[in-house]
Amino acid sequence: MKILVLNGPNINMLGIREPGIYGKQTFADLLSLLEETARQEQVSITQFQSNHEGVIVDKIQEALGAYDGIVINPAAYTHTSVAILDALKAVSIPAVEVHISNVDAREGFRQISYAGMACEKTIKGQGLDGYRQAVQYLKETYGK
Ligand code: DQA
Repeated sequence: MKILVLNGPNINMLGIREPGIYGKQTFADLLSLLEETARQEQVSITQFQSNHEGVIVDKIQEALGAYDGIVINPAAYTHTSVAILDALKAVSIPAVEVHISNVDAREGFRQISYAGMACEKTIKGQGLDGYRQAVQYLKETYGK
């Protein structure tokens, strides 16, 4: 099973950005966790991070026919991007949305998720472990 993990803007700043909200674990720690998850779950995981909305749209389009599942943390684009929502709908690849922080307990503008409207499941407030849980869900539901 091939899973694409997509991360949006500022996720590469983990460990530096607002540690009180996102924790002290770094982006490198996230990459290690994904490698470990791939081994444990016996799936292939490709991670891609971008600070640019259109690049994320391109990656979603390129995933068609290449990946069996998408784990996406669109970061700030979660709350603004109809383009990412439409791209996820266009490819119809099973997708899970992840947020490191508990967006429900934060500012009002974080309560809307456009990308989430095209995702089967949303995992929030679980820290980096949310990515592992998302991969596990895709494996259990669509694994082959
Ligand atoms: C985030 C939550 C978003 O509101 C924020 O803009 C992010 C990260 C999270 O993982 O908790 O950059 O997606």
